[in-house]
Amino acid sequence: MNQADIPFFWAVIPAAGAGARMRADRPKQYLELAGRTILEHSLDCFLDHPQLKGLVISLSADDPYWPALSCASDERIIRADGGKERADSVLSALLRLAERGARANDWVLVHDAARPNLSRFDLDLLLAELADDPVGGLLAVPARDTLKRASADGRVAETVDRSLIWQAYTPQMFRFGALHRALADALVAGVAITDEASAMEWAGNAPRLVEGRADNLKITRPEDLDWLRQRWSTRG
Ligand code: C5P
Repeated sequence: MNQADIPFFWAVIPAAGAGARMRADRPKQYLELAGRTILEHSLDCFLDHPQLKGLVISLSADDPYWPALSCASDERIIRADGGKERADSVLSALLRLAERGARANDWVLVHDAARPNLSRFDLDLLLAELADDPVGGLLAVPARDTLKRASADGRVAETVDRSLIWQAYTPQMFRFGALHRALADALVAGVAITDEASAMEWAGNAPRLVEGRADNLKITRPEDLDWLRQRWSTRG
């Protein structure tokens, strides 16, 4: 990959969720993985990147864990207040970026706080593939398993054609102005927004799917963390 194909970008990390499905004593992004928090690993790939302009992290107002991390004093990291839903947390971060002089055409990459295994190769792939794209897009992985639609009683209602189904991962990469507008309008309209791409879709755009590595997984359940701990303990 040619470095000249890779544009400058801002990063946004929504980290104000509780992660209740982990059943842990703290939000999942603060659980330990290989001697550091999951969140620190999720930030690494961006903080190590020479094209990063700055990074905003959205945190809960009562978050006692962030100030204890060494990266809390990193001057490239700007804090924003988290909101009720992920989309509110992202919008709050975009407002901070506007204060820092982000321009309408600047690229913004939004990445989950609990997705610590993003590779530099995938990040550069996304940046290079979308550098000239009019909309932007996201890392994603084609569905592998046979998919079933469930009925309310927990039985299979039908088998879904998986050939066109992808799992949406992060980072998701869009222009600052278009993403800000789409998210703000969707929230005002009361539309349910689960990722940035869905806000862009609602606004009439078709984000590009860029195939990434399946192991860029979001830690959601205890077994995800067990799997990653095991994997990292054996890597060279
Ligand atoms: O809960 P889930 O894993 O889907 O959350 C995805 C990301 O959104 C996480 O990084 C989480 O911390 C963040 N989030 C947030 N504000 C919320 C809810 C989730 O920043 N209100």
